Amino acid sequence: AHWWGRAPRGLDFDAVAPNREDAVVTPEGYEQQVVIAWGDPVLAGAPEFDPENQTPESQAGQFGYNNDYVALLPHPSDRHKKVLVANHEYTTESSMLPDYDEAAPTEDQIRIGLAAHGLSVVTVKEDRRTGALTPVVGDGLNRRITAETPFVISGPAAGSDLLKTSADPEGETALGTLNNCAGGTTPWGTVLSGEENFNQYFANFASVTDPERKAALARYGFSGGASARKWEQYDTRFDLVQEPNEPNRFGWIVELDPYDPDWAPRKRTALGRFKHEGAGPRLARDGRVVVYMGDDERFDYMYKFISKHKMKTGNSRSAREHNRKLLDEGTLYVAKFTGDSPVEQIDGSGALPRDGAFDGSGEWIKLASGDRSYVDGFSAEEVYVHTRQAADRVGATKMDRPEDVEPSPKTGKVYVALTNNTNRGTGSNAKADEANPRNANKHGQVLELTERRDDPTASTFGWNLLLVCGDPAAADTYFGGFPKDQVSPISCPDNVAFDPHGNLWISTDGNALGSNDGLFAVALEGRYRGLTKQFLTVPIGAETCGPVVQDKHILVAAQHPGELSGASYENPLSQWPDGPGSLPRPAIVNVTREGFDSIGC
Ligand code: FEO
Ligand code: CA
Ligand code: CA
Ligand code: CA
Repeated sequence: AHWWGRAPRGLDFDAVAPNREDAVVTPEGYEQQVVIAWGDPVLAGAPEFDPENQTPESQAGQFGYNNDYVALLPHPSDRHKKVLVANHEYTTESSMLPDYDEAAPTEDQIRIGLAAHGLSVVTVKEDRRTGALTPVVGDGLNRRITAETPFVISGPAAGSDLLKTSADPEGETALGTLNNCAGGTTPWGTVLSGEENFNQYFANFASVTDPERKAALARYGFSGGASARKWEQYDTRFDLVQEPNEPNRFGWIVELDPYDPDWAPRKRTALGRFKHEGAGPRLARDGRVVVYMGDDERFDYMYKFISKHKMKTGNSRSAREHNRKLLDEGTLYVAKFTGDSPVEQIDGSGALPRDGAFDGSGEWIKLASGDRSYVDGFSAEEVYVHTRQAADRVGATKMDRPEDVEPSPKTGKVYVALTNNTNRGTGSNAKADEANPRNANKHGQVLELTERRDDPTASTFGWNLLLVCGDPAAADTYFGGFPKDQVSPISCPDNVAFDPHGNLWISTDGNALGSNDGLFAVALEGRYRGLTKQFLTVPIGAETCGPVVQDKHILVAAQHPGELSGASYENPLSQWPDGPGSLPRPAIVNVTREGFDSIGC
């Protein structure tokens, strides 16, 4: 057992030690419960999970696969219920489906995959005594959004020639959402979700001949011939030769109103098209909304959007309708970071420069606003659709995979999870800089950004690295200046959240120290700044997603349990959460304190 000293509010729990268990491990005195797992019924009439008898129709009424972002929102009329929203990033058919032949999937198997993507809205009932959350199957708010649900394409690029297809000659309606990773909840009660690695669903890049198109596709990672899931055999929109613009209809931030099942979800083109991780909103003092976003690829960028109009408060119909248009008009920016230490002091080893901090200043570079482009050689529509190339042009800073980017509700400071970048400094790739200070960066870092005058609409900012992750015993790690013999090891930060006390919570994906991924709490202020404690670990092969951190609930989405080399439907490498002899199922876990007390106090 470690001696942690007296912990600040929110961090008063016994840290969980690194482990390789096929279980969710929490501190003593905490209880856990699976709220909902892949295949559990959501809509009325959906059957219970039965792995040997899956159909597209049953999956379309059941909880999808690989839950990632999670929101736990107030119920509109019943204080003993809540509304849970989760997205479903991707499928691994060989681990989901019996008799699956990768080279020749059946049409039903393809349609199960399409239905297992997207989002779920599920009303849950809260046990007043224990805090356990139970799905209310068939509740009126419950919804399944799949890879075939119609989305309205909205904002300045809607109707662009770049978004027109043979099925949608207007360029205004896309079918489905894909690879939804993290997300965010807006101050007006809607949920945002980022379409991330959408390139993998499209076939026949190798047969695309037009050089300009080919370069645009390559910049987003498209490659090869047949796609992994072979959806092009079922629907030609996934064939890049037959439907050149279909890929332009993915890679957006989507907005869903969980309180209004009749409102079609939107793809918000004003926020740009890239491999969106998530979206972290903050209201400016004047009522405009600012959304921070990361593009999760090695050497890609961090962005923000500032709305033109101000949010209307209150729950009236007119306020709601007004607020649901806020993300259609505004200005898109990309971030440039400048270090304040001489470049020769940043040698790529992770050793602190002489001023004792990786820190500096930065600017937000304007890309486009409405139909006006600020990028030479790009129309506004081209900035929105080919955002990465536009940002290349203006000299944005190449980051170590920017994942979640979220402002603290308490201080307004923005925290950026930079998960890792093993290609930093290799070959002709960009070398270490002060914001990305390690070459061959395996463990990632967490950056703290302070907008000028604490104004999220500012065009300049200051920044410093809060954490340089990895083994605390290693010379190339930094924990906000806190003594490193008193912190938990942390590697590959991915999602961030905040507790009611102002502490930062970080979930990890891909722990390069060899233990299971987990969830960590980090103190930000005062003499505890940098104190990092592990609150839980997820089962073997899983990544920790969500998380939701509230006073009395912590929810994590355990994504892809058992995803290890050699895993398949016939050879599952995890039995979580159902136990011996079962197939592993991605699931949402609710952790509460015994007696349903405040967490970490
Ligand atoms: Fe889907 Fe960037 O993690
Ligand atoms: Ca410095
Ligand atoms: Ca993620
Ligand atoms: Ca990730």
